[in-house]
Amino acid sequence: MGEAPEALRHQVLHWLSENVPESRLQHILRVEQMAIALAQKHDQDIVKAALAGLMHDLAKYFKPAVLLEMAQQEGLMLDPVDESTPHLLHAHVGAIVAREQFGVQDPEILAAIADHTLGRPGMSPLSCIVFLADSLEPGRGNIAELNVLRHACRQNLQQAVWMVCDYSLKQLMESRRLIHPRVILTRNWFLHQQGTARGHKGSARTTGKTVIGQVQKRLSPSHLSPSHLSPPHLAPPHLQPDVPIPESKLTLLSPEGSPTSMPSLDRANPLSWGESDRLGRA
Ligand SMILES: [Fe+2]
Ligand SMILES: [Fe+2]
Repeated sequence: MGEAPEALRHQVLHWLSENVPESRLQHILRVEQMAIALAQKHDQDIVKAALAGLMHDLAKYFKPAVLLEMAQQEGLMLDPVDESTPHLLHAHVGAIVAREQFGVQDPEILAAIADHTLGRPGMSPLSCIVFLADSLEPGRGNIAELNVLRHACRQNLQQAVWMVCDYSLKQLMESRRLIHPRVILTRNWFLHQQGTARGHKGSARTTGKTVIGQVQKRLSPSHLSPSHLSPPHLAPPHLQPDVPIPESKLTLLSPEGSPTSMPSLDRANPLSWGESDRLGRA
């Protein structure tokens, strides 16, 4: 099966049509498709990937106060960055909505939704796929840095996760935004897991160059100049201000707890609109 079970998919799409703007719906559909493609490539469950992709941004437009309230009711441990930037909680709260509104019980799907913004040390391949699909779907832009990351995610999920984290961290620092510590923990775990952290086995530089070498072989010189081929963790690339960064991503879902009511859109709060959710990413 190439997508979520039809009845549930139709139900989710109907709900989304009433709770997110068309541009967000199109992003969600692109994430769904990229999650399916990555699941096929990496021999993961396609139905789960499709469902998680389809439902990853359910809470994207919830009001900050509602996000905080639902997270607290769920018993989530909140970082000070969560409290100052509640929008980051939309990933976790999205998983709560998936469970409460649509009856999703699969812990792997719920975790993939919850961790789509900040990742998580040791997260499953399915979670990696949704994290990467959200960050790298075609609508994120067609710049060389993102294309390198897109190539990496087809080759190696773990490597692509830390490379995307590096990319996001760089964007966050350059825009002087807060950094959620989970992004760093995620980045370190996946870098260390690969044995590519400097001071451990091998070298992150070597790994990055390997990826770039693979890209060079596949792309014509007219597409990429040497400067474009610097991996994001080696040389800060020229960053276009209108290029959305992958969402800085979030915590564990506790199996208990539920929201008291489904929140409404926060059309008055500009922070809840567009790509500003990304705290450096979207
Ligand atoms: Fe999101
Ligand atoms: Fe998203």
